[in-house]
Amino acid sequence: MKIVSTITEYKNARRQIGGSLGFVPTMGYLHEGHLSLVRRARSENDFTAASIFVNPSQFGPKEDFATYPRDPDKDLRLLEDEGTDLVFMPAPAEIYPEGYSTWVNVEKITERLEGAVRPGHFRGVATVVCKLFNIAEPTRAYFGQKDAQQVVVVSKMVADLNMNVEIVIVPTVRESDGLAMSSRNVYLDPQERQSALVLWKSLQRAKELWLGGERRADAIRSAMTAMIESEPSAGIEYISIARPDNLEEIEEIRSPVLVSLAVRFGKTRLIDNMMLEA
Ligand code: PAF
Repeated sequence: MKIVSTITEYKNARRQIGGSLGFVPTMGYLHEGHLSLVRRARSENDFTAASIFVNPSQFGPKEDFATYPRDPDKDLRLLEDEGTDLVFMPAPAEIYPEGYSTWVNVEKITERLEGAVRPGHFRGVATVVCKLFNIAEPTRAYFGQKDAQQVVVVSKMVADLNMNVEIVIVPTVRESDGLAMSSRNVYLDPQERQSALVLWKSLQRAKELWLGGERRADAIRSAMTAMIESEPSAGIEYISIARPDNLEEIEEIRSPVLVSLAVRFGKTRLIDNMMLEA
């Protein structure tokens, strides 16, 4: 496995790669969710590359950029074990040199849900993903369904800017009790970790109601709200039932919908989602 930290080194390594390249962009602190992306990339491409870069521009001023968990040595071991060919680990100045001033702004869909609560987040995500695609030159890029809105934003950017990369969406990986894997789960104390199970339980309740014939989004949202509010440490930021393509809220479920939610447990903010589709 080749590890590089500059764009020049990456480009030199990329030139040696003939055939298809599967690319997994990450912010490190890898877990089974990331590794499932790497495995999928390996199974569908001749070569696999990953990036590890905690992107400062997607964190708000009051968010956890400085304390975001980092363990590059372990990440590299895990990537090596999965058979990754190439790892790009740039320093922030490599991606945002002094005087950097170009940003990618995907409109409308970035103003809802995560975008409404975390202004500027998707401008940072779209910009870094665009730059990483230009650097990495992948055939396919792999993203987890766990960050559902990120997938919608990246897919829209790729379509609108005619980028030459296929976006592959990989199902969320969960702990055995249903908690979606996330690097931020490490922030939860044992009590919060237990309470956080309500995310998955409320999504399952939504599915149950829908399977039972409930089509009113409000009724499903109310049932989820009641369930989550029964956990004293849970603070709901949003529960959304929306069209999966443009994330517009819907009133009556007639076609597939994305149910997504963001909930705080103490200082930790967790997101999760589920598609309701035939
Ligand atoms: O999902 C993430 O880890 C990040 O948002 C990404 C796509 C690597 C961009 O920094």
